[in-house]
Amino acid sequence: MDTNANAIENRVFYPSEEVVKNANATPELYEEAKKDRLGFWDRMAKELVTWFEPYDKVLDDSNPPFYKWFTNGKLNVSYNCVDRHAKSEKRNKAAICYESEIGKKVVLTYGQLYREVNMFASALSKLGVKKGDRVCLYMPMIPEAAIAMLACTRIGAPHSIVFGGFSSDSLRDRINDAKAKILITADGNFRKGAPFPLKKNADEALKETPTVEKVVVVQNAGNEIEMVEGRDVWYHEIMATADTYYEPEKMDAEDMLFILYTSGSTGKPKGVVHTTGGYLVQTQATVKYVFDLKETDVYWCTADIGWITGHSYVVYGPLALGMTTFMYDGTIDYPDKDRMWDMAERWGVNVFYTAPTAIRTFMKWGTEYPKKHDLSQLRLLGTVGEPINPEAWMWYYENIGGGRCPIMDTWWQTETGAHMVTPLPITPLKPGTATIPFPGIEVDIVDENKQPSDRGYLVVKSPWPSMLRTIYGDDQRYIDQYWKRFGDYYFAGDGAKRDEMGYIWVTGRVDDVLNVSGHRLGTAEIESALVECEEVAEAAVIGKKHDVKGESVCAFVTLKDGFEGTPELVEKLRKHVGVKIGPIARPDDIIFTAALPKTRSGKIMRRLLRDIAEGRALGDITTLADPGAMQEIAAKYAGKE
Ligand code: WT7
Repeated sequence: MDTNANAIENRVFYPSEEVVKNANATPELYEEAKKDRLGFWDRMAKELVTWFEPYDKVLDDSNPPFYKWFTNGKLNVSYNCVDRHAKSEKRNKAAICYESEIGKKVVLTYGQLYREVNMFASALSKLGVKKGDRVCLYMPMIPEAAIAMLACTRIGAPHSIVFGGFSSDSLRDRINDAKAKILITADGNFRKGAPFPLKKNADEALKETPTVEKVVVVQNAGNEIEMVEGRDVWYHEIMATADTYYEPEKMDAEDMLFILYTSGSTGKPKGVVHTTGGYLVQTQATVKYVFDLKETDVYWCTADIGWITGHSYVVYGPLALGMTTFMYDGTIDYPDKDRMWDMAERWGVNVFYTAPTAIRTFMKWGTEYPKKHDLSQLRLLGTVGEPINPEAWMWYYENIGGGRCPIMDTWWQTETGAHMVTPLPITPLKPGTATIPFPGIEVDIVDENKQPSDRGYLVVKSPWPSMLRTIYGDDQRYIDQYWKRFGDYYFAGDGAKRDEMGYIWVTGRVDDVLNVSGHRLGTAEIESALVECEEVAEAAVIGKKHDVKGESVCAFVTLKDGFEGTPELVEKLRKHVGVKIGPIARPDDIIFTAALPKTRSGKIMRRLLRDIAEGRALGDITTLADPGAMQEIAAKYAGKE
């Protein structure tokens, strides 16, 4: 596999005349934003959002890095996503289309969604949820998940969604950090034809979550579950007695909209805080101009709502714009490897957004699967989550896009809330680069000394509307993590280079964060899970290049005296990490060694471990405290391969 970081990619794909003619975006957008950046965002905010009360300032930057956007503006997200469409000619337009793995299909029009969201907001409020209370969601990709999100925003209760694939321990920690009052979950959902026991996991977590008063359970998979008297209520039962209207709360532009936990370079996941106004502006602006959605389109973003992509580009962005968003709950190869293309054909999907790891998986399976289906309705493709290698880009372009669909390679993060560096359909494309910043976004590449450079660190030079506002309950960590290294520039944690066209090539994380199948995992989190096991003395985790996943988890482990690195122990450790964090964090490789390579100041040299894992010759190891240890690890690893 070629790597994005080293690829020399000179192919340029110019947009067709037809694409340019029909695009929502025009070159003038860039000019407008360049001339008057805040004026551009002001226009976006006025055109895209229905405000209950106007804001008095576009940006308040008087207390950096605690920026405020659209100050004193009042609005409600569910009103913008639902009410205003339900009360327009879009009333009978499909808002959410859904298919489950076992083939259940649901279409909710804006009119119906309006009713459901109102009722669930009413039901939640009867359970005691008030403005400002945190509500945790641990749910499958079902319409009720979107309804729950919107109902929370209607009340003004920030949600914290925990990906259904996370373990009960992870769920517990996130509930406790957010001090959530309510948990919304489902009995289960189907994965490869069998029910996955969500509620059972939730019950496990709930043993140690003192703040949770009520649990709302959606009946979805029909698997048997236990309902705890006085604590658990069925979704359908509370909906039956709910009011059909719930007045949307007038939220301040800077009121918290949601918390979403993500991995950082230190152990504890960070609760990324997003607020109401700016987030709604930038998610809509990007859906409109990057994905170029049209009134009659069916749009499908394959991300789970447990990730930021699901928040911004399954639910909030497309619904606020009044578009039709498709949700699938299931595995991508069930019952067969053409499942995605089968659905794309049947639902008439026009715009499709997925991750490089999925594309590489499809690529491995072969072209016979997309070939079975008529994908001629597709007009535009998107990718997100990690650098896409040019081979995968070309495969996607030719075999899914039929050589006619531009690919929007969108660089952004949980923290940025919405696209930051991305082409528009009018942008000439090169396979493997996210190209240039979105209008109104100021991104640069700088060296250690904050000087502009063609290779270095990716930074954002000025605040943007959908930026995170803080780390929940930890302002200091927000400052330290993002604003220490380069002062008033936001440090994204990614490396990047610039080519002769000025295009930005993101090369991957420069901190101790792994990207496994587009999922972010902190090395420190996995390491601390490993050292919890009684046998383990010390652990160092690195990301090893992987053809499909991008990176795989590779752990170097030293054992306490008296323990032996048996295959059984490997299994035990892998399992433990799965239980602590979730199956995606389970190491593919565990290598037992007598010592770990450390600098004289005691810092583990992960770079060397990566060299070993990826089969490169050992570089300079003279700064090591014990160079012999390194030789031993290298020999051991070579023996294993
Ligand atoms: C990290 C953010 C944003 C939603 C999905 C992941 C990597 C993301 C790209 C891209 C190169 C990318 C970066 C970033 N990343 N998109 N188009 N090209 N790298 O969100 O979990 O917050 O991860 O994903 O390393 O920092 P996330």
